Amino acid sequence: MSEHPTISWNEAGEQRSARWRSEVGNPAPKRVVIADDTLAADAAYKLACEGTALLWRGDYQNARQLLQALARRIDRKTTRSSVKKTAAKPASNSSVAAPDMTQSFHLHRQAQAQRARILGMLLLPLAPDYRLNLRRAPDISQACTEAYGPTDAIDSVVSLREVLGLIGAHEWRKKGVPVAALGATIHPYYGVFSPVRGEYLDLVAQAPLPPKATELAFDIGTGTGVLAALLVQRGVRKVIATDLNPRALECAADNLQRLGVADRVELTQSDLFPPDKASLIICNPPWVPAKPGSAIEAAVYDPDSRMLKGFLAGLPDHLSEQGEGWLILSDFAEHLGLRSRAVLLDLFEQAGLRVIERHDIKPRHPRASDAEDPLYTARSKEVTSLWRLALK
Ligand SMILES: C[S@@+](CC[C@H](N)C(=O)[O-])C[C@H]1O[C@@H](n2cnc3c(N)ncnc32)[C@H](O)[C@@H]1O
Repeated sequence: MSEHPTISWNEAGEQRSARWRSEVGNPAPKRVVIADDTLAADAAYKLACEGTALLWRGDYQNARQLLQALARRIDRKTTRSSVKKTAAKPASNSSVAAPDMTQSFHLHRQAQAQRARILGMLLLPLAPDYRLNLRRAPDISQACTEAYGPTDAIDSVVSLREVLGLIGAHEWRKKGVPVAALGATIHPYYGVFSPVRGEYLDLVAQAPLPPKATELAFDIGTGTGVLAALLVQRGVRKVIATDLNPRALECAADNLQRLGVADRVELTQSDLFPPDKASLIICNPPWVPAKPGSAIEAAVYDPDSRMLKGFLAGLPDHLSEQGEGWLILSDFAEHLGLRSRAVLLDLFEQAGLRVIERHDIKPRHPRASDAEDPLYTARSKEVTSLWRLALK
């Protein structure tokens, strides 16, 4: 039996199968038909909505156009249904309650998942050498190696949507994300949290360092290694940085090497804290307490605030005297009604922590000012904070 999931289909009267690849963990579609440039977008949309996957044998660029045509159909349907819902509401008057943001958030995630499911039905064959043997296809072998690791030399099938994600990640990794606070670029890897929203980095660059912080600091959940690099730049002589995700550790090692600070940062795979104590312990946990839809979303969604709670509860055992814990958290979850400020303050209290100071900053990313965004009401109020915490 193969240790990998497989996908099977019938082609020219022959039963065939290949390795199924899905980094987001989607199961292999059960119904698969062969499709090419002759398939009309409406017919493709109907099949995809019914759960029938389309294994593409046509031109690569036409497959991309078909994917865009499917996306347009989904978006048209979503707009129509939201218009219908608005029309069904009672006429507006001053006593009508504000829209329930929690419900909007869950509906938005549901709609995103449904969109991803339909768009994930357009599949491409991937040759054992990570090549797409389709007309006008780009060379994605490097992008595949970066995300999947060395090839296992067997035929596989992957969704076009995933392929576009691999290509995008490869470009980000090559170009890097400029980090003003660091005066350098950070190169995120596929599946590793990218510091595209730079405002929290400004907070870390500017908050006053606690006494003795220059000796040793911990960076909990280092991701690309950006915060560890910032602390070194601020004069911290040694940082121990942890992450659970091996891709993050590999990515952090690469970035720290590029920045010439690898000898000042020790990377270790551990759940939250390394052993011992430090004078500064920093953590930027995922900001939204919700179940991740896939492993890749684990850096954005923290189910039941597991990382946040673990960080706060573990601080007293790991902070040295006069040490500070720096928690980076936006209040987006509060505006979505997913976690209240009182609950957060209570977590500090339960851990025996006091707030020395809170440094706030408004997000600068374009979605924060996009009134068309379904979560705009919450996004427009969002504030990102660096909480400086100490033992009581
Ligand atoms: C929101 S990202 C922040 C990454 C980075 N510190 C930054 O600010 O850009 C959270 C990181 O924590 C890691 N993580 C999640 N749970 C963890 C745990 N229990 N122990 C260590 N790292 C964890 C994730 O893999 C992810 O890289």
